[in-house]
Amino acid sequence: MEKRKPSIPQFKAWKEQGRKIRMATAYDFSFASLVERSPIEMILVGDSLGMVMLGYDSTVPVTMEDMVHHTKPVVRGAANTFIVADMPFGSYNVSLSETMRNANRLMQEGGADAIKLEGGEGVLGLVAALTSGGVPVMGHIGLTPQTASQLGGFKVQGKDAAAAQQLIEDAMGLEEAGAFAVVLECVPAPVAKMISEKLSIPTIGIGAGPDCDGQVLVIHDLLGIFDRFTPKFVKKYATLNGTIIDALSTYAKEVEDGTFPGPEHSFGMVEEELQRLY
Ligand code: KIV
Repeated sequence: MEKRKPSIPQFKAWKEQGRKIRMATAYDFSFASLVERSPIEMILVGDSLGMVMLGYDSTVPVTMEDMVHHTKPVVRGAANTFIVADMPFGSYNVSLSETMRNANRLMQEGGADAIKLEGGEGVLGLVAALTSGGVPVMGHIGLTPQTASQLGGFKVQGKDAAAAQQLIEDAMGLEEAGAFAVVLECVPAPVAKMISEKLSIPTIGIGAGPDCDGQVLVIHDLLGIFDRFTPKFVKKYATLNGTIIDALSTYAKEVEDGTFPGPEHSFGMVEEELQRLY
């Protein structure tokens, strides 16, 4: 069946129908084109690109320029996939006008369909202003990587009743502020289930169990390309790092021993023209 970009009301309808939303990250044209050819209906141009594309230790150094730069080729590669771009650290925790300007940039310059930002009650005012300004917002609560150090590292959040209650209130606040979906990252499965049941907008889980309305994974994790560390919630559907290293090693060997390029990868010349050179 031909792929068509879903709309925001469709995501809500899918939740009501119990149809799961499938999301993966992508950060460039080639990977976005591959996601486009799969049934996955949502791409996140995540600030996780700081780690998997740019080699930083965290998402904090990622800039607006990085996000716009990476969103553009993803949009070119996946015309029929809904594209959400992350607001990086420092792009929305400064002032409302700067937040609006940066969100608009991701949509106007980058071409994203929506933006995502991290945080609960502290960002509700921003989410309300963005959504009433016409910017579709995906929330992100639980483990929020941009503020992981304040949370004590990359740890499961909402493990006691008080913390879980706060997550529930944050999620409900985000829905009330106008968010069209909420990412739940590293949240106990029963808490994610409870939040998913309370919200009328979809929850997208990552390390939040099977009862979310959708799931998201970092593409380099799910394809087994990024192996600096592997969180418990990652399932590797391939081990492409091994495949890629094998291919590169074979190429290196064939260059060394002269078997590449062979005649099928080389260009000839008509003999007469060649003779005229001598
Ligand atoms: O940046 C990212 O990839 C994310 C996901 C982990 C949800 O925010």
